[in-house]
This record gives sequence, C-alpha cells and structure tokens, in this order.
Amino acid sequence: MIKFIEKATNSNFVLEAVFKNENLDKNIIAKKFVITEFISDKKAVIFLGDKSEFSVNDLDELSTQLSSLNRTFEVNLDSFVTENVSLSVIASRILEKNKFLNAKIYNVKTNKKEEEKELFVFTKNLKEIEKELKNTEIIVESVNFARNLQATPPNICNSEWMAEEVKKQVSQFSNLKVTVLDKKEIEKLNMGLLLSVNKGSMYEPRLVVIEYNGNPDSKEKTVFVGKGITFDSGGYNIKTGRSMLGMKYDMSGAAIVASALNAIGQLNPKANVAAVLSITDNRVNGDANLPDAVWTSMNGKTVEINNTDAEGRLVLADGMTYAIRKLNATNVITVATLTGAILVALGTTYTGAFSTSDKLWSNIEQAAKSQNELVWRLPLHDDFSKFIKKSTVADLKNTDLTGNGGSISAAMFLKEFAEDKNFAHLDIAGTAETGEKPMGVMVKTLVQLALNEK
Ligand code: BES
Ligand code: MG
Ligand code: ZN
Repeated sequence: MIKFIEKATNSNFVLEAVFKNENLDKNIIAKKFVITEFISDKKAVIFLGDKSEFSVNDLDELSTQLSSLNRTFEVNLDSFVTENVSLSVIASRILEKNKFLNAKIYNVKTNKKEEEKELFVFTKNLKEIEKELKNTEIIVESVNFARNLQATPPNICNSEWMAEEVKKQVSQFSNLKVTVLDKKEIEKLNMGLLLSVNKGSMYEPRLVVIEYNGNPDSKEKTVFVGKGITFDSGGYNIKTGRSMLGMKYDMSGAAIVASALNAIGQLNPKANVAAVLSITDNRVNGDANLPDAVWTSMNGKTVEINNTDAEGRLVLADGMTYAIRKLNATNVITVATLTGAILVALGTTYTGAFSTSDKLWSNIEQAAKSQNELVWRLPLHDDFSKFIKKSTVADLKNTDLTGNGGSISAAMFLKEFAEDKNFAHLDIAGTAETGEKPMGVMVKTLVQLALNEK
C-alpha cells in the first residue's frame, strides 16, 4: 500500500535522494540506485548520480526500487525533484509503479506470498499534486482491470463471462453507455465474419459497445475496436503445443479498449470516444469455420477463409463496420494481438502501429510518449494487399500466404474495412503479455489520446 502525506510521521525510517558532489557522508555507497541505511538515525539515502543527468528515463528503475523496499520507509519526495524531474512527474510515476506491481491479478496459488510493505511518500507540496495523483490512480487502476481480465484463464473468461464483467465494471459510471449485443442481435446486423469465427464455440459471441460523449458539439468521434478472442486454438488450422500456450491473452485488445473507456468515463475529457469489443473464442467442433469457406461481412465485402487462425482480422473487420456505420466514427483505432510476425519485428518492447493518417499517428505517438509507452510505426503499402486481393471467388482472402510482412498484410486487410475514415491499428501481440505477465499495454496511451483532444 502506498500513501501520500504532507510530513514524515517519524515512526519509520526516512529515505532521501542524494546526488554526486553533495558533500556526502563518507559511508554512503556512491552507486546509482543503491540505498545506504543509517540504522541509529532511522535514516537512509538512495544515491542517484549526477544531479544534472538525473532524468525521467531513470524513473522506471527508481520507482521499481521504491516499490520493493525491505522495510516501511517514508520517502522524502522533495529530495528527488531536480531541474529535469518535476514533483508531479516523479510522484505520479511512483504511484503508478506501486499500484502496477501490487495489483490484485487473478491468482489461485494456495500459498500466497507475504503482504507487501507499506510505503509512505511525503511532500510539503501535496496539495499541488493531488489532482494529478487522482488521475494517475484512475488510469493505473484501469490498466489493472485490463490485466486481471487478461490473466483470467479461458475456462472462466469465455465470451459471455467477459462481456458481463466489462459491463459490470463500466456501468458504474453514469456517463458511460454500455450495450451488450448477443448472438441474435449480431446475426441481425449481418456480422458474418464475427459469426464465422464463433461457429466452433459452445459460447455465444458478444459485441460490447461502450460510449462516452464528452463533446456533443463536435462531430469528431474516435472509436477503439478491440480483438476479444478469449482463446485462440487456431481453429481447423490448429496451433501446435507451444504456440497455443498463452492464447488466453488473445482477448487483450478488447480488455484494453474497455479499460481505456473505464478511465475516460472518470476523467471526463472533452472528446467523443467509444469502444467496440468483438468477443468470441476460436475453437474447433464439427461445424467450426473451414479453410475455403466464404463469408459476407457486415459491410457487404466477401471474404474467403484460407487460414482459420487469421481470425482476429475477421472479428475486427465487423467491429470496424459497426464503429463506422452505427457509431459514426471519424477515427477508427483497432487494438489487437494480431500477428506473431510483430514479435519477430519488434519483440516484446514496441507495440507496432499503422495509420492511414499522419495526423492520427502523430497524436498517438505523442500520447504514447507522455505516458511512457513504446510504439513504432510500420508502413501500409498496396504491395502487401496484392495476395489477399487475389481470391477467385470473393473480394478478399483473409491471409497472405507469401510469408512476408505478415503484420503489414494483416493491417492492410483491416484497412479494407476503414472506408474513408482515419484509421490506425495497434498490433500488441508482442507487448500485451511479457514473461507470462499481463501488461495492460496501451490503456494509458488511449486515455491520453482522449485527454489531448480539444
Ligand atoms: N492470436 C494470433 C497472433 C499471436 C501470435 C498473438 C503469437 C500472440 C502471440 C493470431 O490470431 C494468429 O494466429 N495469427 C497468425 C496469422 C497467420 C495465420 C497469418 C500468426 O501470427 O501465425
Ligand atoms: Mg489465430
Ligand atoms: Zn488470434
């Protein structure tokens, strides 16, 4: 637990930052991020190197350190403030990291690890940063909501359960409108691509729509469309052992866009934003989707299936059409664990980004930067849609089988459903989860994008 206060209580050790050339006690270990304790004074210092070089780039390691201390400390926040690092930045980064690391994420281990240590953080200027801290808390708690959904195993988190959980959470906020469409309603809308993926399932598909209208005078509306595959077996193009592991995370895009709206509903930006979650699993049964099958999407385009494992783009395409036709989106942003190829290109470090609009991309880039998330833009080019446009029986094939640039051809498939809207796509297959841990990646960026709108 972390608590911000105005003054040290003096009932715990106090921890302060010290920098190089500050007339330091000779016992201080002058190694960056190392803590020296002075037991008899109930005091400790953390050495941070050259003051002029201390920057926001150090805050990740620093805040991780401060969240894993071996005793209850009272941290003197004012001692960390430098020319490059403001009080509000350092305070919110410590809060964020602490809440991220101590989040209650799905876990049924019978031997739970011991309770976390308390952390007190004090600054005489607490009043100045209270609002900022509140906003940070709302955002990180939304990130953690996504992470908990991500980690929940697929024998619990099926499409019907997930839609219900999201609805329960976001309907707490009266300025968010939540609609959950069931299979009958999805059939009525002719969402043939989402339905095709759902054919192998014993659960109904769900389309969850969350709407926030913070700027009713504007016609601009940004709609986030999230891939919600609660488990991706691959379908008849079935995945083999190792590559099927972790496919509970294939609903991350949907969890993330819902969580972004969850925060937006509390932060009240002057913007119109919505989230569309296309939810089903991708399984096999006697009637599951088949290679060679042909389906008609909600917008009328026909798609020949040449790989049932390229299911994400199918459920997203219908989600995009819903966003455009039913919600009047002017900007459409898809968020999806879409391709293994993005892992090859960008590892687990960068989220891959695509956009038809330089303006929309630059807004995303800016938002990501201020929220300390890494995105890297990749190209959209017609060369990468040649293969998927060569079906002899339908408008499109769902998969480029050349084996080249798989993340780009997937994005080009989605672009076919963007109509004339500004379109961006975030491929989070590498970043949604790292080391089997859910990251709630891009929630912060999407929220910041809405906050930056004017
Ligand atoms: N859900 C996967 C993508 C994925 C792979 C996410 C690895 C996280 C880690 C997606 O549905 C998929 O199966 N993509 C195929 C596409 C192929 C059939 C063109 C892939 O990447 O192999
Ligand atoms: Mg797949
Ligand atoms: Zn998938």
